[in-house]
Amino acid sequence: MKAALVTTFDTPPRYQETSDPVPADGQVVVDVVAAGLHPRVRSQAAGSHYTSTDELPLVPGVDGVGRDPEGRLRYFVLHDTTHGSMAERTVIDPRRSVVLPDGIDPVAVAAAMNPAMSSWVALRQRIAFEPGQSVLVLGATGNAGRMAVQVAKLLGAGRVVAAGRDPERLAALPALGADATVSLAGSPDDAAARLAEVAADVDVVLDYVWGPTAAAAVVAVVTARPDRGKPLTWVEIGSMGGLEATIPSAALRAARLQLVGSGQGSVSTREIVAELGALAEEIARGSIAVDARAVPLADVESAWAEPSTERVVLAP
Ligand SMILES: NC(=O)c1ccc[n+]([C@@H]2O[C@H](COP(=O)([O-])OP(=O)(O)OC[C@H]3O[C@@H](n4cnc5c(N)ncnc54)[C@H](OP(=O)(O)O)[C@@H]3O)[C@@H](O)[C@H]2O)c1
Repeated sequence: MKAALVTTFDTPPRYQETSDPVPADGQVVVDVVAAGLHPRVRSQAAGSHYTSTDELPLVPGVDGVGRDPEGRLRYFVLHDTTHGSMAERTVIDPRRSVVLPDGIDPVAVAAAMNPAMSSWVALRQRIAFEPGQSVLVLGATGNAGRMAVQVAKLLGAGRVVAAGRDPERLAALPALGADATVSLAGSPDDAAARLAEVAADVDVVLDYVWGPTAAAAVVAVVTARPDRGKPLTWVEIGSMGGLEATIPSAALRAARLQLVGSGQGSVSTREIVAELGALAEEIARGSIAVDARAVPLADVESAWAEPSTERVVLAP
């Protein structure tokens, strides 16, 4: 079969012939219909994700939509594997999949589930989020952040503050539910000062940026907090601005700040899988705006190289 194949971690995958994956007990082969090129997949193919084992060659892709032997369309998430979803066929564990509602657009599902799950699972499984609470989305201009604004509202957030760098994408967020926006352009300290003015009293932060921006923002928000006894749950989800953030010890002592992460490992597979059906239904209903671009799998090498704000979805 044809697949995107990674043979070295420093070059993009190439479209080439590889052997069919062999299903183990309990697994089934699906014909892949659509597989998203998420940041997680880029780091998998670069050998830099925290779950990477350095095993090569590998077919990248951590999730996707496929047709099962009974002809049903399923969204699936894969175990850590070298037989990913960017291939004509892959093997799935049906227990880590959901049958999709009739008429759903497989490209939209493949584009949206991974970025949308990041906030959906964080709010529903990782923390004790309550309707009416206010949420700051740090990095709201990326695919996952844009969806986090919408997911927070869907799950009952009272007020959502969206913060990001790109002015055009930031300006589009009020139409998707953001009650206020904050520019993250410029230095981390300048961005943090603006956050302190607009978001000092939030209950939850969904942080896709991390790095120096988050470090400055934690200090600024804690310092400006009107009631330091009010719980503030800072959820680290992505690290587009840097893998490390230097948080001063005083920030953790001076306010009721709780710092947690949400992702593969800190949320169990069982908890993630439990949320797939409900989220797929919201996507089918059109409750979450999806920015997707379908590209033939044969063009994987050029798709990898082209920067895109839309989520690229490879279709065999
Ligand atoms: N833990 C989980 O469950 C989970 C699940 C999905 C994704 N993620 C993570 O979430 C992050 C975002 O994913 P995505 O799908 O939204 O990616 P994406 O669509 O590529 O968006 C990334 C955005 O990050 C912003 N950005 C980059 N560098 C930045 C910086 N220094 N400061 C502020 N913003 C910066 C850019 O916005 P501007 O154009 O405005 O600069 C860009 O649009 C990634 O780290 C991904 O691995 C985590």
